[in-house]
Amino acid sequence: MVNVGIIGMAGIAGAHLGGYDKCADARVVACCDVDPAKAERGAEQGARAYLDYRELLADPEVDAVSICLPTFLHADATVAALRAGKHVLCEKPMALTSADGDRMIAAAEAAGHVLMIAHCIRFWPEYQALKTIVEGGAYGAVQSALFTRLGGLPAWSANGWMRDPARSGGAILDLHIHDADYIAYLFGMPRRVRARGVETEFGINDLRVEYDYDDGRMIAAESAWYPSEHYPFQATFRVALERAVVQLDGRRPLTVYPTAMPAFEPVLPPGDGYANEIADFIRCITRGACPSVAPAASSRDSLRLIEAEAAAVRTGEAVPVTAGAAT
Ligand SMILES: NC(=O)c1ccc[n+]([C@@H]2O[C@H](COP(=O)([O-])OP(=O)(O)OC[C@H]3O[C@@H](n4cnc5c(N)ncnc54)[C@H](O)[C@@H]3O)[C@@H](O)[C@H]2O)c1
Repeated sequence: MVNVGIIGMAGIAGAHLGGYDKCADARVVACCDVDPAKAERGAEQGARAYLDYRELLADPEVDAVSICLPTFLHADATVAALRAGKHVLCEKPMALTSADGDRMIAAAEAAGHVLMIAHCIRFWPEYQALKTIVEGGAYGAVQSALFTRLGGLPAWSANGWMRDPARSGGAILDLHIHDADYIAYLFGMPRRVRARGVETEFGINDLRVEYDYDDGRMIAAESAWYPSEHYPFQATFRVALERAVVQLDGRRPLTVYPTAMPAFEPVLPPGDGYANEIADFIRCITRGACPSVAPAASSRDSLRLIEAEAAAVRTGEAVPVTAGAAT
Protein backbone atom coordinates (compact mmCIF):
# COMPACT_ATOMS: atom_id res chain seq x y z
CA MET A 1 0.00 0.00 0.00
CA VAL A 2 1.37 3.41 -1.01
CA ASN A 3 0.50 6.18 1.47
CA VAL A 4 -0.12 9.45 -0.33
CA GLY A 5 -0.21 13.12 0.68
CA ILE A 6 -1.91 15.72 -1.52
CA ILE A 7 -0.44 19.25 -1.48
CA GLY A 8 -2.88 21.93 -2.67
CA MET A 9 -6.49 20.92 -2.04
CA ALA A 10 -8.64 22.92 -4.48
CA GLY A 11 -9.48 22.52 -8.20
CA ILE A 12 -7.47 19.62 -9.61
CA ALA A 13 -6.98 17.95 -6.21
CA GLY A 14 -10.51 16.55 -6.59
CA ALA A 15 -9.34 14.47 -9.58
CA HIS A 16 -6.39 13.17 -7.52
CA LEU A 17 -8.64 12.26 -4.57
CA GLY A 18 -10.95 10.40 -6.99
CA GLY A 19 -8.04 8.65 -8.72
CA TYR A 20 -6.48 7.39 -5.48
CA ASP A 21 -9.92 6.31 -4.31
CA LYS A 22 -10.16 4.02 -7.38
CA CYS A 23 -6.61 2.66 -6.89
CA ALA A 24 -6.46 -0.50 -4.74
CA ASP A 25 -2.74 -0.02 -3.95
CA ALA A 26 -2.89 3.56 -2.64
CA ARG A 27 -4.65 5.60 0.02
CA VAL A 28 -4.58 9.30 0.89
CA VAL A 29 -3.29 9.69 4.45
CA ALA A 30 -2.37 13.39 4.49
CA CYS A 31 -3.25 16.63 2.77
CA CYS A 32 -2.10 20.23 2.91
CA ASP A 33 -3.39 23.65 1.95
CA VAL A 34 -2.54 27.12 3.24
CA ASP A 35 -6.31 27.70 3.30
CA PRO A 36 -7.60 25.84 6.40
CA ALA A 37 -11.07 25.31 4.86
CA LYS A 38 -9.50 23.52 1.90
CA ALA A 39 -7.14 21.48 4.10
CA GLU A 40 -10.25 20.42 5.99
CA ARG A 41 -11.61 18.90 2.75
CA GLY A 42 -9.02 16.12 3.07
CA ALA A 43 -9.46 15.79 6.83
CA GLU A 44 -13.14 15.06 6.23
CA GLN A 45 -12.01 11.94 4.35
CA GLY A 46 -9.79 10.79 7.20
CA ALA A 47 -6.47 12.32 6.08
CA ARG A 48 -4.20 14.30 8.42
CA ALA A 49 -4.46 17.99 7.48
CA TYR A 50 -1.43 20.30 7.34
CA LEU A 51 -1.22 24.04 6.60
CA ASP A 52 2.51 23.95 5.70
CA TYR A 53 3.68 21.43 3.10
CA ARG A 54 7.09 21.11 4.79
CA GLU A 55 5.29 19.53 7.77
CA LEU A 56 3.53 17.07 5.45
CA LEU A 57 6.89 16.22 3.86
CA ALA A 58 8.27 15.45 7.34
CA ASP A 59 5.42 12.97 7.96
CA PRO A 60 7.16 9.54 7.93
CA GLU A 61 3.94 7.72 6.99
CA VAL A 62 3.77 9.55 3.63
CA ASP A 63 5.48 7.62 0.79
CA ALA A 64 4.38 9.74 -2.16
CA VAL A 65 2.84 13.14 -2.84
CA SER A 66 0.56 14.66 -5.45
CA ILE A 67 1.54 18.28 -6.01
CA CYS A 68 -1.62 20.19 -6.93
CA LEU A 69 -0.22 23.65 -6.20
CA PRO A 70 -0.26 26.71 -8.48
CA THR A 71 2.30 26.23 -11.25
CA PHE A 72 4.89 28.74 -9.95
CA LEU A 73 5.26 26.56 -6.82
CA HIS A 74 5.73 23.22 -8.62
CA ALA A 75 9.53 23.21 -8.92
CA ASP A 76 10.42 24.14 -5.33
CA ALA A 77 7.76 21.86 -3.82
CA THR A 78 8.82 18.93 -6.04
CA VAL A 79 12.51 19.32 -5.19
CA ALA A 80 11.66 19.57 -1.46
CA ALA A 81 9.47 16.45 -1.66
CA LEU A 82 12.11 14.40 -3.47
CA ARG A 83 14.77 15.51 -0.96
CA ALA A 84 12.38 14.43 1.82
CA GLY A 85 12.33 10.93 0.29
CA LYS A 86 8.89 11.06 -1.33
CA HIS A 87 7.85 9.92 -4.81
CA VAL A 88 6.21 12.80 -6.70
CA LEU A 89 3.27 13.12 -9.07
CA CYS A 90 3.31 16.82 -9.98
CA GLU A 91 0.50 18.48 -11.89
CA LYS A 92 1.11 19.77 -15.41
CA PRO A 93 2.67 22.03 -16.51
CA MET A 94 5.83 20.67 -14.89
CA ALA A 95 7.08 24.20 -14.06
CA LEU A 96 7.21 27.71 -15.47
CA THR A 97 10.53 27.09 -17.28
CA SER A 98 12.47 24.15 -18.72
CA ALA A 99 15.40 25.14 -16.47
CA ASP A 100 13.16 24.43 -13.47
CA GLY A 101 12.20 21.15 -15.15
CA ASP A 102 15.91 20.24 -15.34
CA ARG A 103 16.22 21.04 -11.61
CA MET A 104 13.29 18.72 -10.80
CA ILE A 105 14.75 15.88 -12.88
CA ALA A 106 18.17 16.29 -11.21
CA ALA A 107 16.49 16.07 -7.77
CA ALA A 108 14.64 12.87 -8.79
CA GLU A 109 17.84 11.29 -10.07
CA ALA A 110 19.72 12.24 -6.88
CA ALA A 111 16.93 10.84 -4.69
CA GLY A 112 16.29 7.72 -6.79
CA HIS A 113 12.54 8.30 -6.51
CA VAL A 114 9.74 8.40 -9.06
CA LEU A 115 8.97 11.79 -10.60
CA MET A 116 6.02 11.88 -12.97
CA ILE A 117 4.17 14.88 -14.37
CA ALA A 118 0.38 14.57 -14.56
CA HIS A 119 -0.03 14.95 -18.32
CA CYS A 120 -3.48 13.39 -18.17
CA ILE A 121 -4.15 13.65 -21.92
CA ARG A 122 -1.56 10.90 -22.53
CA PHE A 123 -3.87 8.71 -20.39
CA TRP A 124 -7.22 9.96 -21.79
CA PRO A 125 -9.10 7.10 -23.51
CA GLU A 126 -9.92 9.03 -26.74
CA TYR A 127 -6.33 10.20 -27.09
CA GLN A 128 -5.00 6.73 -26.26
CA ALA A 129 -7.29 5.30 -28.96
CA LEU A 130 -6.03 7.87 -31.48
CA LYS A 131 -2.42 6.85 -30.76
CA THR A 132 -3.31 3.17 -31.22
CA ILE A 133 -5.06 3.90 -34.56
CA VAL A 134 -2.22 6.07 -35.90
CA GLU A 135 0.52 3.65 -34.85
CA GLY A 136 -1.48 0.59 -36.02
CA GLY A 137 -0.97 1.82 -39.58
CA ALA A 138 -4.23 0.34 -40.99
CA TYR A 139 -5.23 3.70 -42.51
CA GLY A 140 -1.82 4.75 -43.81
CA ALA A 141 0.29 7.73 -42.88
CA VAL A 142 -0.93 10.90 -41.16
CA GLN A 143 -1.32 13.79 -43.60
CA SER A 144 -2.67 16.50 -41.33
CA ALA A 145 -3.86 17.03 -37.77
CA LEU A 146 -5.49 19.86 -35.87
CA PHE A 147 -5.88 19.92 -32.08
CA THR A 148 -7.95 22.65 -30.42
CA ARG A 149 -8.44 23.57 -26.78
CA LEU A 150 -10.55 26.61 -25.99
CA GLY A 151 -12.10 28.06 -22.87
CA GLY A 152 -12.85 31.23 -20.99
CA LEU A 153 -10.32 33.11 -18.84
CA PRO A 154 -10.11 31.09 -15.59
CA ALA A 155 -12.06 32.68 -12.77
CA TRP A 156 -11.66 29.95 -10.17
CA SER A 157 -8.00 29.88 -9.10
CA ALA A 158 -6.90 30.83 -5.56
CA ASN A 159 -5.99 34.57 -5.45
CA GLY A 160 -6.39 34.72 -9.24
CA TRP A 161 -2.92 33.19 -9.83
CA MET A 162 -4.01 31.58 -13.11
CA ARG A 163 -4.68 34.96 -14.77
CA ASP A 164 -1.17 36.15 -13.84
CA PRO A 165 1.34 34.98 -16.49
CA ALA A 166 4.20 35.30 -13.98
CA ARG A 167 2.53 32.59 -11.89
CA SER A 168 0.70 30.44 -14.47
CA GLY A 169 2.51 31.07 -17.77
CA GLY A 170 -0.83 32.07 -19.38
CA ALA A 171 -2.91 29.91 -21.72
CA ILE A 172 0.08 28.94 -23.86
CA LEU A 173 1.54 27.08 -20.88
CA ASP A 174 -1.43 26.22 -18.68
CA LEU A 175 -3.97 25.19 -21.34
CA HIS A 176 -2.18 24.60 -24.63
CA ILE A 177 0.60 22.42 -23.15
CA HIS A 178 -1.97 19.59 -23.00
CA ASP A 179 -1.98 19.46 -26.82
CA ALA A 180 1.68 20.41 -27.37
CA ASP A 181 2.75 17.59 -25.03
CA TYR A 182 0.39 15.11 -26.74
CA ILE A 183 1.57 16.13 -30.23
CA ALA A 184 5.17 15.47 -29.14
CA TYR A 185 4.05 12.14 -27.63
CA LEU A 186 2.20 11.06 -30.79
CA PHE A 187 4.42 12.45 -33.54
CA GLY A 188 7.76 13.09 -31.79
CA MET A 189 9.43 16.46 -31.39
CA PRO A 190 9.02 18.73 -34.41
CA ARG A 191 12.13 20.24 -36.03
CA ARG A 192 10.76 23.76 -35.66
CA VAL A 193 7.57 25.65 -34.85
CA ARG A 194 5.81 28.64 -36.39
CA ALA A 195 3.20 30.43 -34.32
CA ARG A 196 1.01 33.48 -34.13
CA GLY A 197 -0.72 34.68 -31.01
CA VAL A 198 -2.36 37.44 -29.04
CA GLU A 199 -0.45 38.60 -25.96
CA THR A 200 -2.29 40.59 -23.29
CA GLU A 201 -1.78 41.24 -19.58
CA PHE A 202 -2.90 37.60 -19.13
CA GLY A 203 -0.01 36.26 -21.23
CA ILE A 204 -0.06 34.62 -24.69
CA ASN A 205 -3.70 33.66 -24.55
CA ASP A 206 -4.89 33.04 -28.10
CA LEU A 207 -2.49 31.17 -30.36
CA ARG A 208 -2.12 29.02 -33.45
CA VAL A 209 0.95 26.83 -33.84
CA GLU A 210 2.29 24.85 -36.80
CA TYR A 211 4.62 21.93 -36.03
CA ASP A 212 7.17 21.40 -38.80
CA TYR A 213 8.50 17.83 -39.23
CA ASP A 214 10.28 18.41 -42.58
CA ASP A 215 8.13 15.69 -44.20
CA GLY A 216 5.08 17.55 -45.48
CA ARG A 217 2.73 16.58 -42.63
CA MET A 218 0.57 19.54 -41.56
CA ILE A 219 0.31 19.34 -37.77
CA ALA A 220 -1.28 22.29 -35.96
CA ALA A 221 -2.88 23.33 -32.70
CA GLU A 222 -5.08 26.19 -31.62
CA SER A 223 -5.70 27.27 -28.01
CA ALA A 224 -7.31 30.23 -26.31
CA TRP A 225 -8.59 31.59 -23.07
CA TYR A 226 -11.21 33.96 -24.48
CA PRO A 227 -12.08 37.05 -22.41
CA SER A 228 -15.51 35.74 -21.32
CA GLU A 229 -15.13 33.39 -18.39
CA HIS A 230 -18.47 31.88 -19.54
CA TYR A 231 -17.07 30.72 -22.90
CA PRO A 232 -17.65 26.91 -22.92
CA PHE A 233 -14.61 24.67 -22.62
CA GLN A 234 -13.98 22.49 -25.67
CA ALA A 235 -11.16 20.13 -26.64
CA THR A 236 -11.22 18.60 -30.12
CA PHE A 237 -8.99 16.94 -32.70
CA ARG A 238 -9.18 15.98 -36.36
CA VAL A 239 -6.48 13.72 -37.77
CA ALA A 240 -6.49 12.93 -41.49
CA LEU A 241 -4.67 9.77 -42.56
CA GLU A 242 -4.33 8.44 -46.11
CA ARG A 243 -7.46 6.29 -45.77
CA ALA A 244 -9.46 7.70 -42.82
CA VAL A 245 -10.22 10.74 -40.72
CA VAL A 246 -10.30 10.31 -36.93
CA GLN A 247 -12.29 12.98 -35.19
CA LEU A 248 -13.26 14.08 -31.68
CA ASP A 249 -15.50 17.11 -32.05
CA GLY A 250 -17.55 17.42 -28.86
CA ARG A 251 -20.75 16.55 -30.74
CA ARG A 252 -20.33 12.79 -30.95
CA PRO A 253 -17.91 10.25 -29.43
CA LEU A 254 -14.54 9.58 -31.04
CA THR A 255 -15.37 8.62 -34.64
CA VAL A 256 -13.37 7.05 -37.46
CA TYR A 257 -14.46 7.98 -41.01
CA PRO A 258 -12.70 5.41 -43.25
CA THR A 259 -12.52 5.68 -47.05
CA ALA A 260 -15.47 3.91 -48.73
CA MET A 261 -16.80 2.44 -45.47
CA PRO A 262 -19.36 3.63 -42.92
CA ALA A 263 -18.13 5.70 -40.00
CA PHE A 264 -17.70 3.88 -36.68
CA GLU A 265 -16.97 4.64 -33.03
CA PRO A 266 -13.89 2.67 -31.90
CA VAL A 267 -13.90 0.83 -28.57
CA LEU A 268 -12.08 3.01 -26.05
CA PRO A 269 -9.62 1.82 -23.40
CA PRO A 270 -11.26 1.74 -19.93
CA GLY A 271 -11.02 4.34 -17.19
CA ASP A 272 -10.62 8.09 -17.25
CA GLY A 273 -7.45 10.09 -17.81
CA TYR A 274 -6.94 11.10 -14.19
CA ALA A 275 -7.54 7.64 -12.72
CA ASN A 276 -5.37 6.01 -15.40
CA GLU A 277 -2.52 8.45 -14.74
CA ILE A 278 -2.69 7.89 -10.98
CA ALA A 279 -2.81 4.11 -11.42
CA ASP A 280 0.33 4.35 -13.60
CA PHE A 281 2.14 6.49 -10.98
CA ILE A 282 1.34 3.99 -8.23
CA ARG A 283 2.33 1.06 -10.50
CA CYS A 284 5.73 2.70 -11.07
CA ILE A 285 6.28 2.99 -7.31
CA THR A 286 5.18 -0.54 -6.43
CA ARG A 287 7.20 -2.09 -9.29
CA GLY A 288 10.26 0.13 -8.86
CA ALA A 289 9.87 1.22 -12.48
CA CYS A 290 10.39 4.54 -14.28
CA PRO A 291 7.29 6.15 -15.83
CA SER A 292 7.06 4.98 -19.45
CA VAL A 293 3.94 6.83 -20.68
CA ALA A 294 4.87 10.21 -19.21
CA PRO A 295 8.60 10.25 -18.32
CA ALA A 296 9.68 13.47 -16.60
CA ALA A 297 12.24 14.19 -19.35
CA SER A 298 9.44 14.29 -21.94
CA SER A 299 7.52 16.75 -19.76
CA ARG A 300 10.65 18.94 -19.55
CA ASP A 301 10.92 18.70 -23.36
CA SER A 302 7.31 19.88 -23.61
CA LEU A 303 8.33 22.99 -21.65
CA ARG A 304 11.09 23.55 -24.22
CA LEU A 305 8.50 23.16 -26.98
CA ILE A 306 6.30 25.82 -25.34
CA GLU A 307 9.35 28.10 -24.98
CA ALA A 308 10.02 27.71 -28.72
CA GLU A 309 6.36 28.47 -29.49
CA ALA A 310 6.42 31.61 -27.31
CA ALA A 311 9.59 32.75 -29.11
CA ALA A 312 7.88 32.08 -32.47
CA VAL A 313 4.85 34.19 -31.43
CA ARG A 314 7.07 37.06 -30.28
CA THR A 315 9.52 37.07 -33.22
CA GLY A 316 7.26 35.96 -36.05
CA GLU A 317 10.09 33.59 -37.08
CA ALA A 318 10.22 29.79 -37.32
CA VAL A 319 12.00 28.62 -34.14
CA PRO A 320 14.00 25.36 -33.87
CA VAL A 321 13.03 22.99 -31.05
CA THR A 322 15.56 21.32 -28.77
CA ALA A 323 14.89 18.14 -26.81
CA GLY A 324 16.85 15.62 -24.78
CA ALA A 325 19.40 15.99 -21.99
CA ALA A 326 20.25 19.46 -20.68
CA THR A 327 23.37 20.98 -22.29
N1 LIG B 1 -4.52 18.09 -15.42
C1 LIG B 1 -5.48 18.98 -15.60
O1 LIG B 1 -6.37 18.80 -16.42
C2 LIG B 1 -5.48 20.22 -14.75
C3 LIG B 1 -6.68 20.92 -14.54
C4 LIG B 1 -6.65 22.03 -13.71
C5 LIG B 1 -5.45 22.44 -13.13
N2 LIG B 1 -4.32 21.76 -13.38
C6 LIG B 1 -3.03 22.20 -12.81
O2 LIG B 1 -3.07 21.92 -11.41
C7 LIG B 1 -2.37 22.94 -10.69
C8 LIG B 1 -3.33 23.53 -9.66
O3 LIG B 1 -4.43 24.13 -10.34
P1 LIG B 1 -5.85 24.32 -9.59
O4 LIG B 1 -6.83 24.68 -10.65
O5 LIG B 1 -6.14 23.15 -8.73
O6 LIG B 1 -5.53 25.62 -8.70
P2 LIG B 1 -6.36 26.17 -7.45
O7 LIG B 1 -6.01 27.60 -7.29
O8 LIG B 1 -7.81 25.78 -7.58
O9 LIG B 1 -5.77 25.32 -6.22
C9 LIG B 1 -4.48 25.53 -5.71
C10 LIG B 1 -4.53 25.31 -4.20
O10 LIG B 1 -3.20 25.42 -3.69
C11 LIG B 1 -3.25 26.11 -2.44
N3 LIG B 1 -1.94 26.67 -2.14
C12 LIG B 1 -1.35 27.76 -2.69
N4 LIG B 1 -0.11 27.94 -2.16
C13 LIG B 1 0.09 26.91 -1.28
C14 LIG B 1 1.18 26.52 -0.45
N5 LIG B 1 2.33 27.21 -0.41
N6 LIG B 1 1.02 25.43 0.32
C15 LIG B 1 -0.13 24.71 0.31
N7 LIG B 1 -1.20 25.04 -0.46
C16 LIG B 1 -1.08 26.12 -1.25
C17 LIG B 1 -4.34 27.15 -2.65
O11 LIG B 1 -4.86 27.63 -1.40
C18 LIG B 1 -5.37 26.37 -3.45
O12 LIG B 1 -6.31 25.74 -2.60
C19 LIG B 1 -1.88 23.95 -11.74
O13 LIG B 1 -0.56 23.71 -12.08
C20 LIG B 1 -2.80 23.69 -12.93
O14 LIG B 1 -2.19 24.01 -14.17
C21 LIG B 1 -4.31 20.65 -14.16
